[in-house]
Amino acid sequence: MSQPTIESILQEKRLFPPSAEFSQNAQIKSLEEYQHLYDKAKADPEAFWDQLAKSELHWFQKWDKVLDWQPPFAKWFVNGKINISYNCLDRHLTTWRKNKAAIIWEGEPGDSRTLTYAQLHREVCQFANVLKSLGVKKGDKVGVYMPMIPEAAVAMLACARIGAVHSVVFGGFSAEALRDRLIDGQAKLVITADGGWRKDAIVGLKPQVDKALEAGAVPSVENVLVVQRTKQEVNMQEGRDHWWHELQQKASADCPAEPMDSEDMLFILYTSGSTGKPKGVVHSTGGYNLYTHMTTKWIFDLNDTDVYWCTADVGWITGHSYIVYGPLSNGATTVMYEGAPRGSNPGCFWDVIEKYGVTVFYTAPTAIRAFIKMGEQHPNARDLSSLRLLGTVGEPINPEAWMWYHKVIGGERCPIVDTWWQTETGGIMITPLPGAIASKPGSATRPFPGILADIVDLDGNPAGDNEGGYLVVKHPWPSMMRTVYGDDDRFRRTYWEHIAPKDGKYVYFAGDGARRDEDGYFWVMGRVDDVLNVSGHRLGTMEVESALVSHPAVAEAAVVGKPDELKGEEVVAFVTLEGTYQGSDELSKELKSHVVKEIGAIARPGEIRFTDALPKTRSGKIMRRLLRNLAAGQEVSGDTSTLEDRSVLDKLREGT
Ligand code: WTA
Repeated sequence: MSQPTIESILQEKRLFPPSAEFSQNAQIKSLEEYQHLYDKAKADPEAFWDQLAKSELHWFQKWDKVLDWQPPFAKWFVNGKINISYNCLDRHLTTWRKNKAAIIWEGEPGDSRTLTYAQLHREVCQFANVLKSLGVKKGDKVGVYMPMIPEAAVAMLACARIGAVHSVVFGGFSAEALRDRLIDGQAKLVITADGGWRKDAIVGLKPQVDKALEAGAVPSVENVLVVQRTKQEVNMQEGRDHWWHELQQKASADCPAEPMDSEDMLFILYTSGSTGKPKGVVHSTGGYNLYTHMTTKWIFDLNDTDVYWCTADVGWITGHSYIVYGPLSNGATTVMYEGAPRGSNPGCFWDVIEKYGVTVFYTAPTAIRAFIKMGEQHPNARDLSSLRLLGTVGEPINPEAWMWYHKVIGGERCPIVDTWWQTETGGIMITPLPGAIASKPGSATRPFPGILADIVDLDGNPAGDNEGGYLVVKHPWPSMMRTVYGDDDRFRRTYWEHIAPKDGKYVYFAGDGARRDEDGYFWVMGRVDDVLNVSGHRLGTMEVESALVSHPAVAEAAVVGKPDELKGEEVVAFVTLEGTYQGSDELSKELKSHVVKEIGAIARPGEIRFTDALPKTRSGKIMRRLLRNLAAGQEVSGDTSTLEDRSVLDKLREGT
């Protein structure tokens, strides 16, 4: 089992059309229907989104203009007034959906809870009042550092309801990483829990928050709200820390949704790039609401009988768009699961599908590969016949994993939507619409209507069929990120200046390499920058390098990705040591733990290689390409003539 290579995907010609029965009942029923929508949207994107915004969402006030595009800054539905929490909750209460399950939660170990739309609305209104009582106002930033429990969704929706901006930080990030994000986002309040379940153990979250806030490190934070989840002893600082349940009980359930400007900031979400610290990706309200609503509706093909489950964590964009906002805006039933794939419970995902009769299931290739390894006897021992549609996200899926998913989980009857998108895009950009587009294992297939995706060279010239190039988007779309929080210049540089078309037009550079085959299908090959994708999680090489050099033993560090069967990529760090330090297994262990402490377990290097020197060009740039070859155990390929000192390479080779 391996990651797809250019050769392997070009040989991948198998085509899997949806069954006639699936297509007949689908939202978008045929290739012709998709093509019609796509062409219509391409001819006049503004008219396309204008019509959908009117028919699909509730607005307090209509917009004056669909799109105001001052490259690279976009405003969608200018002067429109909307509230995404209203669209996710209130509007369903006047329909039969009032008592439909909004969130079905499966906790660890074995507890569960269901919230109907009416119950979720009540919780959100009460919690919005709690936030208000602690002085949170429209425009204030709120940090959310939570396990996978319904309160995470309640917290997000309550912020949105009163116009506070949430900044969710994945619960697996360390105190240091949390602190950086709270400081950058100027959080006024933090919402957390005493602890949460990770795999088979309880991990403390509140202690991490305490550490992040230690010694007034984040002066903007005034209050901390703590959900009691795991009930272990935690320190509660008088005046600053409050129990969620105590304040929630006392709060009124009357809290009308605040009419927000369409362009008001909805959330900040930090993600890794190739340079510097993680950047705060800013998403705004109206366009994000519309785009996540439409993509959820047409890609996951939701009907009122569906039980939809996305296995992501709310700490990532997939959790924001496709556990919380997209499904709830559609009035769907969304499953939240606190557990994760693990050897000690190899059937855990399949148990959840059987228990709730999940019909639409969305997960990551890395999880699929982990389950393949655990063996098909586990899914085979469960009743998975409720499933009718499957999805994947986060990284390229290798055809072998695709076929396993198709056969063992989907029983050869469920279409698979391989969805390509990013934190920055807000919603899914390239994917099959399941009733309309036949899939090919490993291809995300065709762009969503309204998305003008292309593959180009650095001058913006389109690549020919099967010729590799950079994946770009040529026209703004409603849920595109608006900027990097506090750094418009970084936004411009990172995404809009890499590709320089001759006509001077701005195109969005995704950071991925891709090719398009003779049928117009896109094949995303992976990052072309210094961003790694480890188990579907984005990591900047520079972030890991900074973490390493903050250890006193480390003089210099260069981090690269090495192909890994399960994780997609694994972190390999080449390290030179200060003065008298000597490389040893012990130091290697210590450095790995140091990275975990600085960033979190997702960044733990798989391998540390000590070396006397790093291969550099004469201008002092580390030649990562060579290190990538070495890490993968391959012959060093390409030009090495710019190497300053060739003996460095020889020594590194000897060491491997
Ligand atoms: C990668 C996750 C291939 C890609 C939603 C992208 C994919 C990065 C796919 C964004 C896919 C995501 N096929 N690659 N279906 N989906 N990627 O911001 O490299 O965490 O740029 O968003 O994941 O990761 P992010």
